[in-house]
This record gives sequence, structure tokens and C-alpha cells, in this order.
Amino acid sequence: MSGDLDPHRIVRLEDDAVVVLDQRRLPDEEVELHCTSSAEVAEAIRVLAVRGAPAIGVAAAYGLALAAARGEELGEAIGILAASRPTAVNLRWALEAMRDEPTRARAEQLHADEVERCRRMAAHAVALFPAATRVLTHCNTGALATGGYGSALGAIRAAWEAGRVSHVWVDETRPLLQGGRLTAWELEQLGIPFAVIVDGAAASLMAGGEVDLVVTGADRIAANGDTANKVGTYALAVAAAHHDLPFAVVAPTSTLDPAARTGDDIPIEERDATELTSRFPARNPAFDVTPAALVDAIVTERGVHRAPYAESLPRVAEVER
Ligand code: MRU
Repeated sequence: MSGDLDPHRIVRLEDDAVVVLDQRRLPDEEVELHCTSSAEVAEAIRVLAVRGAPAIGVAAAYGLALAAARGEELGEAIGILAASRPTAVNLRWALEAMRDEPTRARAEQLHADEVERCRRMAAHAVALFPAATRVLTHCNTGALATGGYGSALGAIRAAWEAGRVSHVWVDETRPLLQGGRLTAWELEQLGIPFAVIVDGAAASLMAGGEVDLVVTGADRIAANGDTANKVGTYALAVAAAHHDLPFAVVAPTSTLDPAARTGDDIPIEERDATELTSRFPARNPAFDVTPAALVDAIVTERGVHRAPYAESLPRVAEVER
């Protein structure tokens, strides 16, 4: 359909490079970045040229296939790629899935599988949207963030196509504006009605009765359902609970981390303070953890999961990887 971002335009492996659509330049310019070694792929992930939990897993998978083709020392390449960002577990998951077969074919399969997971979870998530939903979302969880189709934004798209969405509120998502730049750009291409808001406007829109549902993605989900996502998500979940609005998380099983018992076990990335200000002292945590008690539903490609999440989330051994 129109507005579809081709997965290989977002990230792909060519003979001598991993090529990513540079998300730092969007929406103003569509520029490709060629990464010719695993170290360059890691740098592209670190600087957010490619970003979003599933997409950085896919990029790392292509990076490892490139490293193998170039004759790089693979243990070292895995180490460099894994260290590029700490919070999204998809990165480590993808490198682990590639370890025994670091080939282009394996990386392409992993990419195609992630996109297929997105389509399946979006189909499950449609049930969470009442008629004419005014849905609020945070950060960017569209095709750009997952390598194709999208997680929370994929769900919004599927619900729109099912006639259940009337409007999308897009948190601009300070400080790097993944919502105001990337989600807005994707929604515009998909022809879905939306408006960008400052993050601080979300609670008062809820109070004014202008929001029916909050949907976000995730970067890592602990065994008990505590969910790490872009900083500001926790505040949204608190506000949603206060206004008696449903708060749902949509993420593929590659985002589940059964080794993290609770959110306390999830490392939160602290990024350079100059992303906020070069003039004053600042702190820049890139993610926060929303306690499972504030999450009404977690949707994976396996279905809609409800509390208690320690029982309802798919176990890793049950998931085909
Ligand atoms: O720092 P980013 O842009 O990589 O963070 C991404 C997010 O936090 C997204 O909201 C997300 O849910 C994970 S990607 C679908």
C-alpha cells in the first residue's frame, strides 16, 4: 500500500557495506549512510543513525554478517556491536541468533522475521482499539524503528486500516524528537490524521477527554512485565492510570528479556548531556521503566498478554528464534 517503507530502504547489506537510511537527517533529507565495517555499524547505532530496538538488532545482524565476509575477528565484532547501546535487548538477542551462522542469508531471514512479527502483533493489537480511537503514542515505533511495518505504530496503522482510529497524538519526544520528526513523517506518508504535541501536553489532553488509549513500544521487557521504553513513557503511564485510560505496550518477543527479573535489572542508557544543552549541567537518561502494574496489556506476535505477566508472557523456550 502507499506509504509503505521498504524494509531494505531502512537497513540492508550490500557486498561491502551495511547501508542505513540515516534517521538523524529525517524528515528533511533522505540520505543513506554506508558502514563498511562492524565498527562503523556500531557507530551508526551509537549515534542513532539507525535506532529503535528491533531495527538496531537487525543492523547488528547485518553488521556481523559483514564482519564475517570481511574476515574480521568475530568475537571482537560481536563485542563492539553489543556495546553500541545498552538498553534494547534486541541487539544482544540478534547477535546471539547470528553467532553460529553469521551469514547474509541468516541476517536477511532475521530481518524478514522481525517484520513478520510486527505484522502479527499489529493484527492482535487491533482488538485494543475501540471505535474511532484517539490514540496517543510516544517516540517512534514505526517501520524505521523495527526494520519494517512497526510495533506500536504498526498497531495504530492496522487499527486505522480496520477503521478504528480517528486521530493520533504524537508526543514530540524530547530531546531528539523521534516523535516530532520520525513518527510524524511516517504517519504523513500513511495518510493517518495526527498532530504533534509537546510531551508535557499529554496529561492535560487526557484530562480534557481527548485521549482514549495510549500505546507505546518497548526496548526491553522484564519477566514480570516491567517495561523499559523511551524516557517519558513512565510519566505517560502514570497519567493514563490517573485518568483511567488503558496503557498498552506492543513489542515483538525479541524485546522480552526473561533474564531480567524486574525493571531493576534493565540497564538504562545515559546519553551525552550535550543532546540537551551545551550551556548548563544536564542529565540525559534515554529510557525509563514503567512498572508492570501500570501496563494494561503487552502485545507480542503471540497475542495479547495480561497481568500477571510472569505467567502470561511467552517464555523464551516457547518462542521460535
Ligand atoms: O533511542 P531510540 O530512538 O532507539 O528509542 C526507541 C524507543 O524507545 C521506541 O519508543 C521503542 O519503543 C522501541 S523501538 C520500536
